[in-house]
Amino acid sequence: MDKIASIREDFIQDIKSVNNLRELEAIRLKYIGSKGIVSQLLKEISRVPIEERKKFGATVNELKNFIENTISEKKEILFEKETDERLRKEAIDITLPGRRLPLGSIHPITRTMEEITDIFLRLGYGIEYGPDIELDKYNFELLNIPPLHPARDMQATFYISDELVLRTHTSPVQIRTMLKKAPPIKIISPGTVYRCDSDATHSPMFHQVEGLLVDRDVSFEDLRGTIDLFLKSFFGQNTKTRFRASYFPFTEPSAEVDIECQMCMGKGCNICKNSGFLEVMGCGMVNPYVLKNVNIDPEEFTGFAFGMGVERMAMLKYKIPDLRLFFDNDLRFLGQF
Ligand code: PHE
Repeated sequence: MDKIASIREDFIQDIKSVNNLRELEAIRLKYIGSKGIVSQLLKEISRVPIEERKKFGATVNELKNFIENTISEKKEILFEKETDERLRKEAIDITLPGRRLPLGSIHPITRTMEEITDIFLRLGYGIEYGPDIELDKYNFELLNIPPLHPARDMQATFYISDELVLRTHTSPVQIRTMLKKAPPIKIISPGTVYRCDSDATHSPMFHQVEGLLVDRDVSFEDLRGTIDLFLKSFFGQNTKTRFRASYFPFTEPSAEVDIECQMCMGKGCNICKNSGFLEVMGCGMVNPYVLKNVNIDPEEFTGFAFGMGVERMAMLKYKIPDLRLFFDNDLRFLGQF
């Protein structure tokens, strides 16, 4: 009985120093494993004198139960402690704010092109597109610019072959449209154009929006009214516009359109060279020769056409001093639109 009592004392000491589940398992094996101290004790039961056997058995079993209960209590405590520790170690700080994806913005040229086309869509115009790589015939010849015509020098052309060019303007879409369908025609054509030119105000690649209207009894006054309405919608109702006589081989008569300089509001500055006005587009009545080239009878139909530079329109509207800013792809600049 003394031995049983001292085993109990040993166990109580042992269990006090247990710090984790692995140590606890070692203690369990030491006392109540199949070869443990208490299990050995139970095997000795047959050697105990018969009159003490009952008491001995009960005491050993009581010890065994005590050890089992103590271990399972301790196990629960240790399990909780170890789980807590593990969770604390593996924890991710979800309170740290995430990094936002930067939002994109529409390129100012695209935006300006959309603003321009929206106005003409409201006026009932349709949209036509043409290829960037264009036939010389459509870019020049059918527009009344024959080979060796001095007007070819107005536009430094990128030639691909004798017959193919990078289109120097969107005017060839006029030809493509008139070849495709009969009047009445009422279209605009936004797109990319190319000229061998590069400085603060010229880029080898830029954008135009072309317009073409062909019908019966179309007059120069219709052209003036349309352009005036468009420019006032785009720049604001108080914008002053001015038509200046000019020359294009594919229109006759031709004009260039100026608006009041948006930088100085007409007062005169170095941008408008003190004239108070800036050129924004070319236009005119479709030349009868061009109508004949596409098999439209100039006695029956007349028309007007216009073409504007999108970069120029964007620079004026958003007061951007240098054309090259559009193509540097500096997000600090582009993000402002
Ligand atoms: N195509 C001319 C240019 O690029 C602009 C224009 C278009 C002029 C239509 C008259 C009519 O300069």
